[in-house]
Amino acid sequence: MTTNSPRPSDIFHDEDSNTSNAPRFESVLSARLSRRSMLRGGAGVATLGGTIGLTGCATSGPTAPVSSLGFKPVAKTMVDQVTVPEGYTARVIYALGDPLSATTPAFKNDGTDATFGDRAGDHHDGIEWFGLDASGKPSDSFNSRGLLAMNHEATTDEKLSSFFIHPNGGTATLPRPAAEVDKELMIHGLSVVEVQTDGQAWAYKASSAFNRRVTTMTPVTMHGPARGSEHLVTKFSPDGTQARGTLNNCGTGRTPWGTFISGEENWFGYFFRDAKDDDARKKDKQVQALNRYGRKAGAASRHGWESGGSVDTYTRWNNGAVAASAKDDFRNEMNTFGYIVELDPYDKTTTLRKRTALGRMGHENATFARAVAGQPVVAYMGDDARGEYIYKFVSVAKWDPADTNPANRLAAGDKYLDKGTLYAARFKGDGTGEWLELSMDNPVIAGSSYFEFKNEADVAVFTRLAADAVGATRMDRPEWGGVNPRNGEIYITLTNNSARTVASVDSANPRVYTDLKAGKEQKGNVNGHIVRMSQKNPADDAFQWDIYLFAAEADADKSQVNLSSLTDDNDMSSPDGLVFSKATGVCWIQTDDGAYTDKTNCMLLAALPGQRGDGGSKTLSYGDKQVTTHMGKAQTAATLKRFLVGPKGAEITGITETPDGRAIFVNVQHAGENTKMADVNDPTKFESQWPANAGYGAGKRPRSATIVITKNDGGVIGT
Ligand code: FEO
Ligand code: CA
Ligand code: CA
Repeated sequence: MTTNSPRPSDIFHDEDSNTSNAPRFESVLSARLSRRSMLRGGAGVATLGGTIGLTGCATSGPTAPVSSLGFKPVAKTMVDQVTVPEGYTARVIYALGDPLSATTPAFKNDGTDATFGDRAGDHHDGIEWFGLDASGKPSDSFNSRGLLAMNHEATTDEKLSSFFIHPNGGTATLPRPAAEVDKELMIHGLSVVEVQTDGQAWAYKASSAFNRRVTTMTPVTMHGPARGSEHLVTKFSPDGTQARGTLNNCGTGRTPWGTFISGEENWFGYFFRDAKDDDARKKDKQVQALNRYGRKAGAASRHGWESGGSVDTYTRWNNGAVAASAKDDFRNEMNTFGYIVELDPYDKTTTLRKRTALGRMGHENATFARAVAGQPVVAYMGDDARGEYIYKFVSVAKWDPADTNPANRLAAGDKYLDKGTLYAARFKGDGTGEWLELSMDNPVIAGSSYFEFKNEADVAVFTRLAADAVGATRMDRPEWGGVNPRNGEIYITLTNNSARTVASVDSANPRVYTDLKAGKEQKGNVNGHIVRMSQKNPADDAFQWDIYLFAAEADADKSQVNLSSLTDDNDMSSPDGLVFSKATGVCWIQTDDGAYTDKTNCMLLAALPGQRGDGGSKTLSYGDKQVTTHMGKAQTAATLKRFLVGPKGAEITGITETPDGRAIFVNVQHAGENTKMADVNDPTKFESQWPANAGYGAGKRPRSATIVITKNDGGVIGT
């Protein structure tokens, strides 16, 4: 952590302006909309991509959209702290185990803590800001009080056990003791936590009535086409309409109607399947789907939760056909995971809804195109696994701006997210592409000989097979997506792909090379890239694309690898989180890397992107094979700078901000994850002691945490 003093008391309040119905950004093409934003008291400022009309900022000291990155880049480093630019302060405010009620004891951080249902979960990931005004009402313009809704994706583990939350590292063999499993079930899921600043420093409020935990055990309802499907029938929900919990939640999003959404990513790894389960299922079509989704018969589970006991708290993690029918066991339990989940952050009495219309996959986040009155609501999504697809959802319902602040936020979710069409992307070599419809209206799906799709529920549950059937393009691990508020272009990070070969390179996934990490060879698309798409209208079937950025090490070959001309000030590996600031238009890029970690910890970079097609075409040679791709322009010190480097072993993931852009909240996940379980009680052997070494909390075991970053002069972040 940096030890700079907190910034001055200069938080601006805006209790008078209600700007929530106004779009914050306007298209470069739309002078009409820009004029409207000016009338609302915002600034219209020429930038790289065009004009931004900014509204919703504080009553004094209006936030200016960023036209240049006004900070000195942070150098790559392997120190065990959070490093931010000169003039900025980063401070930990909410870490694993922090109490979420006034009566929960302080976190001791020695493995003896309990009651995780009332504490912050582990592995903080995607995060979204939901403002509150002084009276505790939802507000899009108040800057000093709000709720942070976030994912707790997973836990630092070795040989089954989440060892940092057990006194001596826990049990690394089967069966797992129920008491250990009970803790582990509770540290996954989501949390909603109130934060506020007194003008001096931000802190979370343990006693807030808004605080909420969602875990693997929280009741949820199934919505959309798969609701009531035979494939969702379990002993817990014989009619296939209910389920329990959300799991391995990765990226997040914020809907145009003000709710939080979370993507369930690597959920399949938590399920056990007996070696004879294919036979027990009589080789029904689900066997093909289970194989496709990563659970072959004989698959062991990540934590052995199924071994904790004979009640269904534990047996639900055995995804086998062990009883007479699906109503009597949990053979379909895995089908209740893999969705976009919607939560109303402002009302903890409401039940989470799984939006099956957006498909079942390894969801990262969902990012929404700007909602336009009378047009469908459109969301873009990545499926994070090697060779998976990029998806788009287009609602049947047309956007009604009155839904920006609806009386019932989840009812608005029902309206826009339960009926619509899902598409998967096919990228063509000429820089164009098409969205391929995944529905029974597409004869390729309805008549598929590859997999039997009987109805829309089958498409929603077995989405990856539908995308296989239509021939979508296999990408290099699609992660977060973001929509550039300047011009509506869509950015999707493709983090890396060790399985990409010369035989499988294509225009949109054109790199395969060898890189050395501490002398050891790494192959494939080692460092990842970021694809960019543009559409006339978000609902169109056609798009155009280029590759905005090729991640690379600065000294890599500029003709085949470091194609974006990265330097020591902005080189990176494995882009993952990608979020456009609504306040400034800055594109924040976060890394979750294992390839460049011999030289630097993971990082956060700030970018000012141009537009699709601003770099031209480029042909890469692999012996006899040539691949022509389409690139964004080369990066410069003016367009891309490293803003933060995290502690050892950590991934930097999830970023959100106050509406005025003067505070950003960033999640730091799994510092010290390479610590050995055998060393759990020897801090001198921990890979990381963060955030204890930054002065936060008891004990020295590393903890995932949320940090807040402010500028010491009170200014807007990144300017
Ligand atoms: Fe949880 Fe795809 O990162
Ligand atoms: Ca290297
Ligand atoms: Ca991620």
